Amino acid sequence: MTFLPPTPDYHRGHNAIKWNLYPPDVLPLWVADTDFFSPRVVQEAIQRRAEHCSFGYQRDTPKLLDVIAARMRERHGIPAEPEHILITPNLVSAIGICTQIAGPPGTGIFVTTPIYHPFLSSIKLHNQMLVNAPLVSSAKNGVIYYEMDFDAIEAAITPETRMWIFCNPHNPAGRSFTRAELERVAEIVLKHNLIIISDEIHADLRYSGETHISVASLSPEVAAQTITLNAPSKTFNIPGLGLGYAVITDPSLHKRFQEKMWAAGLGSNNFGIVGAYAAYTEGQPYLDEILPYLQENRDLVGDYLSEHLPEVSYTIPEATYLSWLDCRNLNLPESPYHFFLNQARVALNDGAQFGEGGEGFVRLNYACTRETLIAALDRMRDAVLAR
Ligand SMILES: Cc1ncc(COP(=O)(O)O)c(C=O)c1O
Repeated sequence: MTFLPPTPDYHRGHNAIKWNLYPPDVLPLWVADTDFFSPRVVQEAIQRRAEHCSFGYQRDTPKLLDVIAARMRERHGIPAEPEHILITPNLVSAIGICTQIAGPPGTGIFVTTPIYHPFLSSIKLHNQMLVNAPLVSSAKNGVIYYEMDFDAIEAAITPETRMWIFCNPHNPAGRSFTRAELERVAEIVLKHNLIIISDEIHADLRYSGETHISVASLSPEVAAQTITLNAPSKTFNIPGLGLGYAVITDPSLHKRFQEKMWAAGLGSNNFGIVGAYAAYTEGQPYLDEILPYLQENRDLVGDYLSEHLPEVSYTIPEATYLSWLDCRNLNLPESPYHFFLNQARVALNDGAQFGEGGEGFVRLNYACTRETLIAALDRMRDAVLAR
């Protein structure tokens, strides 16, 4: 397994935020980076590019735009052409732009919490109005399953709501939504004339050989109201190369997005372009290698919790490498995030950050070596037993 680092803590001291934000005795299972090496083909492409020793302004190379458009058409069923793609420095900046083009300050933007927290901060920081219908969950034998509450969604959306920031696969709920669910989403989007931002950054990380379904693939009408956001960063562990993209087939929406990008001076960088191109054209064997490892880690988390921490319910992600743990039955003296950080020396993400429905939860990133994962779970178990 060439993607595994030589030691579990290899990334400490290599300036990785995941391994260097907390003190050295803390095991970091928080931010959504993997602990894996990026694909060798990406490294080689960057080395070749560095040989040019010319790092000036550049175009978004047509080759990369072709590859992304073909990937969107062939894997995601989105009617994308190269001219529909806008390269951004990452997805958080793209989300920021979307939040701005929703409308003037005070425009309603709909989400389903718990949700990837920069959606919430972007809405707040751009002075837009958060409109929310939390996901509903059911738990069976300690396994949590999340669904959208379509009645609550219909009730929450008002004439002032102009945009839905959607996440599929869903971070942190781990759902990869079914065609039937997506069709309901599309119906609502068309009925209320919303722009839908479909953040699909975790789409490649779909388990069990199932295929990801993109909202924009449902019909040309839906595609015209969709901004699909994606990036090679989660799949190939290259977020530090700084490259994401928006796929926008509607010309007027495309223009609005592009103008905001220009206004903010956002663009790509030399290494992001070559890294993304190598990942998308030669990285499939890498993805084929990491996915089964991730799936085994996912199952290990569930099995471990069932056996050793039965009070904790958990999701079984259909995609992503992020488990979502309900710790409310532990009755901890402090938030589970603080408890596991202080008592177990394990850094997780605080569920409260993910908005309504996240209180009492933590998000655990299992994209690490099995050794790190087991060590972290052992520490969490020991801390709970000793409380
Ligand atoms: C759903 C989702 N969108 C966007 C991002 C961030 O993407 P970027 O690093 O390109 O800003 C993440 C990272 O965890 C994510 O989970």
